[in-house]
Amino acid sequence: MAGSVHEKPILQTLRGRKTESIPFWLMRQAGRYLPEYRAVRASKNGFLDMAFDPSSAAEITMQPVRRFRMDGAIIFSDILVIPWALGQNLEFLEGEGPRLGELNPGKLEMRDLEEKLSPVFEALSRTRDCLAAEGYDRTALIGFAGAPWTVVTYMVEGGGSKDFAKVKTMAYAQPENFARLMDILVESTAMYLIAQVRAGAEILQIFDTWAGALDPHGFQHQVIEPTRKIVERVKAAHPDIPIIGFPRGAAMHYPAYVAQTGVDAVGLDGLVCTKWAAAHLQTKCPVQGNLDPMRLLAGGEGLEKAARKILRDFSGGAHIFNLGHGIHKDTPPAHVERLAEIIREFPA
Ligand code: CP3
Repeated sequence: MAGSVHEKPILQTLRGRKTESIPFWLMRQAGRYLPEYRAVRASKNGFLDMAFDPSSAAEITMQPVRRFRMDGAIIFSDILVIPWALGQNLEFLEGEGPRLGELNPGKLEMRDLEEKLSPVFEALSRTRDCLAAEGYDRTALIGFAGAPWTVVTYMVEGGGSKDFAKVKTMAYAQPENFARLMDILVESTAMYLIAQVRAGAEILQIFDTWAGALDPHGFQHQVIEPTRKIVERVKAAHPDIPIIGFPRGAAMHYPAYVAQTGVDAVGLDGLVCTKWAAAHLQTKCPVQGNLDPMRLLAGGEGLEKAARKILRDFSGGAHIFNLGHGIHKDTPPAHVERLAEIIREFPA
């Protein structure tokens, strides 16, 4: 049905067409701010147990859609399932975030990747069925992966990092070893995304959360180049799948990212000036974003004004409304409800 007027609104926007209202979804829209998420979480033995149970993952993916009728349902999983599937130990400690085991680059194994990640594919096809069965025929299913640079930061640092000392030392002092590691991630991420489309994903997003931590040379080689290779591979298998790239913090590098990676649309973080982006990015491809998640946390008049300014500034072209980064865990669901109203009321 590609190109038909019955196509889901977010897919139309991604192809650069006007829709009746501005489509929206929110990064990390499934999660701890929802009591129904916390209920599923409490019944499971930790995050991975929940993410790798296809029926829980599909249920959690549906939760925000049932409340707020987003135009996109992002599959419930995590970017760190790739290092896990390659053989690196992974744990999510309550209140502490991810912990990865020791990294042995020589021992990473791509062979069983699809088999190990089959619960994610099963969750995708179940979610497609749920969306159809529950009548959400305007909501598209979004698959995702972390970009190699962001994923490798967790693999080398063993978890989150403030200064990226270990991973940058590896990149700068052992460039060949680092390049081999990045090649494994390019290969496995492309395979993973291709399999997600086969399982029912209608859009893909590549999260490069730490793109803004690199110098210009690093941005070119660790963000743009690997992303370009992944996009090329995915498009060779599925030419029509729309791919959204999210190089958070890319700042002045956003135009080069759009020009060189081949992504169909670009996700903007909350620091990006909307008028600048309308002139320099939205003229090249659809844009997604970019409300500061803390505006949503705070609510009130400030939320309304900030959301309307974004809608206005991007009203001259293709725009998917989203946050500039993931939703904060203390966000009152009523604020999300209000935001959904503001977006739906806005004349596209
Ligand atoms: O957007 C969605 O609703 C889909 C689910 C999703 C999760 N993680 C679930 C999750 C997505 C798209 C991600 C991506 C992700 N994971 C990124 C890139 C985007 C971003 O937010 O920057 C990164 C860097 C990670 C790695 C990660 N996973 C961290 C740093 C943490 C701990 C911090 C935190 O928020 O707890 C996680 C755990 C995680 N992934 C949770 C969720 C809902 C919290 C798990 C819990 O319930 O305790």
